[in-house]
Amino acid sequence: MKIRLNNNIEIPQIGVGTWTLRGETARQNVRLAIEAGFRHVDTAQAYENEEEVGQGILDSQVPRQELFITTKVSTSIMRGGQQAVRQSIDDSLSKLKIEYIDLLLIHWPVKDCVKDTWQVMEECVRKGKVKSIGVSNFNRHHLDDLLSYAEIRPVINQIEVHPLMTQEENITYNHQLGIQVEAWGPFGQSDIDVIGHPLLQSLAQKYQKTASQIVLRWIVQRGLITIPRAKPNHFSENLDIMTFALAEEDMQAISSLNRNLRSNVLNDPETFPW
Ligand SMILES: NC(=O)c1ccc[n+]([C@@H]2O[C@H](COP(=O)([O-])OP(=O)(O)OC[C@H]3O[C@@H](n4cnc5c(N)ncnc54)[C@H](OP(=O)(O)O)[C@@H]3O)[C@@H](O)[C@H]2O)c1
Repeated sequence: MKIRLNNNIEIPQIGVGTWTLRGETARQNVRLAIEAGFRHVDTAQAYENEEEVGQGILDSQVPRQELFITTKVSTSIMRGGQQAVRQSIDDSLSKLKIEYIDLLLIHWPVKDCVKDTWQVMEECVRKGKVKSIGVSNFNRHHLDDLLSYAEIRPVINQIEVHPLMTQEENITYNHQLGIQVEAWGPFGQSDIDVIGHPLLQSLAQKYQKTASQIVLRWIVQRGLITIPRAKPNHFSENLDIMTFALAEEDMQAISSLNRNLRSNVLNDPETFPW
């Protein structure tokens, strides 16, 4: 399944996350994810694995045009000013060993640095280095500010979404603006117990699926994109979520688990410390 972005480009609704993956593990994990059927890979400058992610992509031997690759400008680079951002995008291209980035995101709304970063990202779209640009961890006021000067509208806002953090207001606002929402941390990063919740366990029994598949299905059925990270033994399971549908009452029951609980209190876009 693909979602059409506001620039008419399509993104696979499910991708594979790579946070915490380093070295050989990152390289192998990305190759195996693509071999399992993923066509969308999410990395970031801050993950320090773009080299290995790029190598894993090459190892897969899947043609470049069949893949959708996302990376993100890091907070430290944003603080370095426009030349640092410009150089970092060239560095990402070279580490990933690709001619263009499908989606480049601002990783966090670093105060007083978003406008300068966005302008360089727009420049990179015009130069063909980047196909689409977007943001991550933006709340409503961050979006409003960006839209007051953006010449190119963000296509995506990548935010934390899982059954204990449903983000209903933020998602509705993004959708009203024509911005698609991408759910990071669909399993609460395993730092909080999402998939062990009794409701998800009982729905797993009802639908003869796993609790992880129930969570991913709830996300995609809300019209969101998502990028679960997993070990290779979970890849097929995480991909196999398009052949069943949750009843509306079950969708609502999962949404009612919301506690606005972040996987880590530090991940608050208003106060993040990095
Ligand atoms: N924009 C941002 O600020 C931001 C922040 C965080 C993350 N992200 C992106 O979002 C991606 C996903 O988030 P995340 O990696 O933080 O956490 P996550 O996807 O919520 O959780 C990953 C954990 O879920 C487990 N898992 C995956 N599939 C499973 C399954 N089928 N059954 C049981 N357990 C399963 C994994 O265990 P195993 O390893 O054992 O499979 C791993 O411990 C990241 O990798 C990154 O690309 C973006």
